[in-house]
Amino acid sequence: MDAARRAIHTNPLGADKVRPFFCFSPASGRRCATWRRPCLAMGDNGRMPTQTLFPTLIYKAPLAARSAAAFNRQLLREAAQLRLDDAAGRRWSETSYPGGYTSYASVSRMQTVSPTFATLERKLARHVRAFARRLDFDLAGRELVMTDCWVNVMPQGVMHGLHLHPLSTISGTYYVQVPKGAPGLKFEDPRLDRMMAAPPRCRAVRDSNRPWVVVPAVAGNVVLFESWLRHEVPANTVATERVSVSFNYAWF
Ligand code: NI
Repeated sequence: MDAARRAIHTNPLGADKVRPFFCFSPASGRRCATWRRPCLAMGDNGRMPTQTLFPTLIYKAPLAARSAAAFNRQLLREAAQLRLDDAAGRRWSETSYPGGYTSYASVSRMQTVSPTFATLERKLARHVRAFARRLDFDLAGRELVMTDCWVNVMPQGVMHGLHLHPLSTISGTYYVQVPKGAPGLKFEDPRLDRMMAAPPRCRAVRDSNRPWVVVPAVAGNVVLFESWLRHEVPANTVATERVSVSFNYAWF
């Protein structure tokens, strides 16, 4: 029996919880075999002597304890009206948000022009404060202030590529209308560009070890993250428009 065949039938790790891993040799094109330990079952009951450092926190919660349906209907009406009125935004969206509409470059301080969006700012305040506390931010007596707040409308086929929010501290999105099957918010591991020799992850990988994680979009929910964290919205594959309000908070 040659070495490769012996490897298939021998257990070099000496443990019973291993399984063969088959691969193809790029040189010969023939099948080779090696052994690998299976992924640990989800959770290790705290026995694993590891420590989590540099966590990347995502905050997600319902905006309010009560139903947001009526509030969202009003936001939806105003978003539709804004889209009609905002010729500059529609022009900008043609090249920078193809197929969709965003007021990011035209009416980007909605909290100052609409009482409804000012209400959204008030409702968001406690969430932003809670997130800042969880991040152990020392704000030195200064407030995190909403600097930008804009509308995003994504019809079918529209996506928003990978980006971050420069010059801001905390960013986030409030979901106004999310049809069933519409995409969530996809985050990228901020260390990805340093993973020169990182093996792929197991199929049963924990969320905290995934290089990309999609946080589902839920109407009435708010998602917050630190503004340096890259994220994208995959293409909306359903016929109904996905409508959200994004915002930035700065500390200066
Ligand atoms: Ni963004």
